[in-house]
Amino acid sequence: MGFKEEISALLGKATGLDENEVLSAIEIPPSQELGDYAFPCFVLSKKLRKSPKDIAEDLAKKIKASFIERTEAKGGYLNFYVKQEEYAKAILEEKPGFGKKKESIMVEFSQPNTHKEFHVGHLRNVFLGDSIVRMLRNQNYKVIPANYLGDIGTHVAKTLWCLKKFHADEKPDKNKGKYLGKVYMEANKKVKENEAYKKEVSELLQALEKREKEITALWKETKEWSVKEFKEIYEDLGIKFDTWFYESEEDEEGKKIALELLEKGIAKKDDGAIIVNLEEHGLGVAVILKSDGTTLYLTKDLSLAKKKFEKYKIDKSVYVIDSRQSLHMKQTFKILELMGFKKEMLHIPYEFVSTKQGPISSRTGNTYLYEDLKERMKEKAYEETKKRRTDWNEAKLKGTSEEVAKTALKIGMLKIDNNHEIIFDEDEWLDMEGETGPYTLYTAARIHSVFRKGNVKDVEKPDYTKLGTSEDKNILRILEKEKENIMKAAETYKPSMITRYLLDLSQSANEYYHKHQVLKADEETRKARLYLLKKILESLERNMELLGITPLEEM
Ligand code: ARG
Repeated sequence: MGFKEEISALLGKATGLDENEVLSAIEIPPSQELGDYAFPCFVLSKKLRKSPKDIAEDLAKKIKASFIERTEAKGGYLNFYVKQEEYAKAILEEKPGFGKKKESIMVEFSQPNTHKEFHVGHLRNVFLGDSIVRMLRNQNYKVIPANYLGDIGTHVAKTLWCLKKFHADEKPDKNKGKYLGKVYMEANKKVKENEAYKKEVSELLQALEKREKEITALWKETKEWSVKEFKEIYEDLGIKFDTWFYESEEDEEGKKIALELLEKGIAKKDDGAIIVNLEEHGLGVAVILKSDGTTLYLTKDLSLAKKKFEKYKIDKSVYVIDSRQSLHMKQTFKILELMGFKKEMLHIPYEFVSTKQGPISSRTGNTYLYEDLKERMKEKAYEETKKRRTDWNEAKLKGTSEEVAKTALKIGMLKIDNNHEIIFDEDEWLDMEGETGPYTLYTAARIHSVFRKGNVKDVEKPDYTKLGTSEDKNILRILEKEKENIMKAAETYKPSMITRYLLDLSQSANEYYHKHQVLKADEETRKARLYLLKKILESLERNMELLGITPLEEM
């Protein structure tokens, strides 16, 4: 039982309130001067017909326990100060809990389109999805990470058309994915300038949808180029998928569903097309089959959604997709519901990434390709590390700068709440100071280095009275929140909460050894501080792992 629970029990007895009610009312004050826990007495003033101030003063006199150092009535609050040594012991000796086995959830994320470039904007989705998978697993959900490649449609037709028409006798030997991205951009430009080209593209798409031999061969060959590139990127970033879905494989089943909807009277014919009128739900009119019989993005999502539940026996289906597709997702879920397919499905939207030069867009060419970007950031991290680590060999410098670059990207992307736009800024993200990835990596590496320097192998439970300063308290107050923070972050799909925790703990840890000697302190204090550092390190590394960050022992 934590202090919060013990205090709730005491307050429950003293006031006659339900313990759980008290528990949910108890707050952790914003600064340690206001106590470790606070009870807002206004929740009682109606019942007792007394002012919060009087209630607080009354209770302050009544409530006593051996772990409570003192209480204080202030501003209608009753503040509790726990004996610091007991507080330290309780927090540092708490085991990270896992909870019981939970339901199975499929998390669909990344979903890039083939025959297009992979740019920095795509990374936000990848990092969000991967971190959500990790957080849910930590909470003991059974998680199936899934990808859904956009391997068919107008964008593919454009690229193939341009390849055939203008690049027929070229054969790229490497960076084929990047090559396709370039061709795609070129195609966009050309199509915009010439009406006749548009028609050619749409003819090509029809041939492709009918799987005509020649174009299908080219499609399959080039699709592999993209898929190979994507897989390299995932490998590079340590991202794993258990299942791969493809838009091109959802056509047929999608068509069947559209016809079934028509038969059931949920959909109707309109000018040859099949539509579902969702106006009464505020979701407009959704076309689910074109008049030429071809399917749409939405049609395929109907089929995919069913497949996920039927084939994978999941309890819940989560989609990490750009907020611009919110209407699309609502239409998908609503149509399924009208069909009687009532399952737990959730869209997790996020805002886009732009640069100081404006939004990232494959059409305008402001793309920040992942490949280029990563090389550049690695190079910068390399230069920076080399300056500090003149004695390191090439391999060590390279390995370290690779992790620094990746962590800079992850923290940069994940520190912002899903609902806010990100302005990508590689130099700021790479900075060793400030709220960055390198800063958290450095914090953990610095603790490792203290242990190396002091030749410390094991730490034992210390004399907790030696952790009595307000900087100790600051750290303990952060550590106390870890468990609940992870739980909330997982339940609300917000890796930004984990990032916040990491940055706060890093900052307090750095302040700590700025202020206090560790290795040079007297024997007992040294032991206690090393123990605290060890706990900080474990917590940092545990939370890094939830963001897919690999900690470094040296930096
Ligand atoms: N490939 C699509 C795009 O880039 C995203 C797919 C999202 N997932 C889905 N089930 N609709 O726009």
